[in-house]
Amino acid sequence: MKKNTRNTITRRWMVNSLGVIAVVLVLLVSAFGVFINYYYLNYSRQYLTGKLNTVSSILQQYYTDDPQTFAAQVRSVISGWSDKSSTELMSVSSDGRITMTSSGFTPTREVLASDYTDAISTGTSGYFRGRLPDGERVMAMSVVTPASTGDQSVIRIMTSLDRVNRRVAIYIIAASAIAVAILLLMFFSGMYFVKSIVIPVNQLGATARKYSRGDFSTRIPVKNDDEIGELCVIINHMADDLSKSEAMKNEFISSVSHELRTPLTAIKGWAETIGSMPDDKETVTKGMRVINSETQRLSEMVEDLLDFSRMSNGRFTLTLGNVDVLAELGDAVLIYREKAKADDIELIYSEPEDLPIVFGDRNRLRQVFINVIDNAIKYSDPGGRVTVEAAESEDGNITITVADTGMGIAPEDLPRIKEKFFRANHIKRGSGIGLAVADEIMMLHGGSLNVSSVQGEGTTVTILLPPKKMAVTPQIG
Ligand SMILES: Nc1ncnc2c1ncn2[C@@H]1O[C@H](COP(=O)(O)OP(=O)(O)OP(=O)(O)O)[C@@H](O)[C@H]1O
Ligand SMILES: [Mg+2]
Repeated sequence: MKKNTRNTITRRWMVNSLGVIAVVLVLLVSAFGVFINYYYLNYSRQYLTGKLNTVSSILQQYYTDDPQTFAAQVRSVISGWSDKSSTELMSVSSDGRITMTSSGFTPTREVLASDYTDAISTGTSGYFRGRLPDGERVMAMSVVTPASTGDQSVIRIMTSLDRVNRRVAIYIIAASAIAVAILLLMFFSGMYFVKSIVIPVNQLGATARKYSRGDFSTRIPVKNDDEIGELCVIINHMADDLSKSEAMKNEFISSVSHELRTPLTAIKGWAETIGSMPDDKETVTKGMRVINSETQRLSEMVEDLLDFSRMSNGRFTLTLGNVDVLAELGDAVLIYREKAKADDIELIYSEPEDLPIVFGDRNRLRQVFINVIDNAIKYSDPGGRVTVEAAESEDGNITITVADTGMGIAPEDLPRIKEKFFRANHIKRGSGIGLAVADEIMMLHGGSLNVSSVQGEGTTVTILLPPKKMAVTPQIG
């Protein structure tokens, strides 16, 4: 799998990028080769034509001046030929004999070609490019002299094309070398580029596989400030969040188990006590009372957990109706009166005279008030004060504030306070879902729940509820 990814990206790049460039370079080099070959042949032909024209016009002049000495003039032109190194000038007789050459040697091989026969047959000139019988590639031109018969009937110029071919070959080799160099450069720079993607991607894959196995110990080193680097940062964040929520979940399970065990221990203890002394009326009454209240606590806790799980999978529903907020808030305060007194916390409830009716779920709203008041008392020390207030604001919303003079919440914890399982401290027992559930309920009512706090001074929770006309249609899961 790992190898495959690398192969695929590298191969795709090879075919799409390098392959196309290679084809383009081959085409360019071929076109260059054709062009340079054509250019040199054309150049050679023009060169020969120019030389032969000069010779031809000189001979014409000689012939016009003195036809008797024409043969001698031709010989002197040939023997004095200055361009011996690259061309050979020769005179040919009308019967196809080479009568003189500028090199001074009578050729031992067959050097005449179609240029000569063409010149003879047309009476003007001829051109040849090709191989001689011995295989040498040459270019030759013949022109009929003014004498037109005899030993000097044709003047011929010939050059070997080997040099031209060699030069063309050198150019093509040089162009090919440049093309190969370009390809190599592209290959290495491309390989570097592909590697800079493939290697981090493989690392990402390996790390992500670790995460999927539940091992969040590694983080991906962020090497580049590019898209891949950004991806690494995001994945690292994701791992942070996942490991945090994993840790919170584990802590939740252990704290919930603990919460469940405490009432169970009390119930078991009292059941045993009652069993051992069934006739002690006082013990039985006391035991039964404890068993009853602990069972009640257990079932409330299980209900909370069920709410929470419904909330997590979107099946949290509201039973809607007209709600008298004052009555529900009053109930919640009443539930905590005794506990506040026992904890030596002053619970002040300034009840307004009237509040508008709200369209919502009365049990859920009471649950919100209970959760918030529970926190205010739970996180306050003896001698503290919890103030509950309710009012109708100018824009028609109902505002309920629960303020305490407790330990407060650290600024860095405040933003996360409503997250499920989150607990800012472990001083008091709790599962960290109270505020998460309360927040969800308020959202379903189209309202809000905000927490402000100063560490060491106290916390204020503000609950905002829209009145009946503004209530949104709640989600029914
Ligand atoms: N009034 C408050 N004063 C100080 N800290 C608070 C207050 N209310 C909430 N917190 C902090 O916020 C955390 C989350 O509160 P939440 O009600 O969701 O959980 P909990 O009270 O720990 O558990 P649960 O309510 O599920 O039994 C608490 O653990 C606590 O640290
Ligand atoms: Mg709570």
